[in-house]
Amino acid sequence: MGPSSPKRRLVITIDGPAGAGKSTTARQLASRLGYTYLDTGALYRGIAWKVKISGVDYSNTNQLERLLSTMDLRVSLQNGETRVLVDSNDVTAQLRSPDISRLASSVAAIPTVREWALPIQQRCAGTGGIVVEGRDIGTCVFPDADAKFFLDADVKTRTNRRFQDELKVGQGGDRRKVQDQLLARDAQDRSRKIAPLKPAPDAVVIDSSLLTVGQVVDKMMEIISARR
Ligand code: DC
Repeated sequence: MGPSSPKRRLVITIDGPAGAGKSTTARQLASRLGYTYLDTGALYRGIAWKVKISGVDYSNTNQLERLLSTMDLRVSLQNGETRVLVDSNDVTAQLRSPDISRLASSVAAIPTVREWALPIQQRCAGTGGIVVEGRDIGTCVFPDADAKFFLDADVKTRTNRRFQDELKVGQGGDRRKVQDQLLARDAQDRSRKIAPLKPAPDAVVIDSSLLTVGQVVDKMMEIISARR
């Protein structure tokens, strides 16, 4: 492609464990590229919220299928922030609590839930020009993505980031507890049978422990620029 040809609009995936900096990085990367951005964790958090308020036993497949088929879940981007509407209610502010994080990880391990969520995520890609972040995006949702990243960081760094996030929404408690919850969720996300958290074989692994968000985005841009 010559220097003046229009650039291809790529599908870029970022997977990784909780607190690795996926959302901030994905948002900044999308903004630099003029792309849209999809936070797929918001989908699982929206389902978890609905499971919680409806009191459905999520281990009961019939009950869960009924819940999924009747719920109206919308994930949208407003001023660069992901907003989640469940049955027309904006529940975004209620999705970052530790109990919703835990429940999201548990419902995300259920095949019925993942089968339901897969086409919704795939439809969002449209004709490209999107950065999608989650756990199984490069491995299952977009196995043919143009560029795949796996963002990681050491446990201390990830715990600190999550601790700061929770402080911002008035939830910050005990750092040790934040770390224990983070590790328990990672273990669950990595060990589930369906679409476990792991790098795609062709993903570029980046450790963000000692890097700023800007530095991580610079590294990603180098790789992406060569592919456009
Ligand atoms: O990215 P997050 O912390 O908002 O995600 C919440 C949970 O949702 C996470 O612990 C596992 C699940 N999830 C998933 O299974 N697959 C994805 N693509 C994104 C999130």
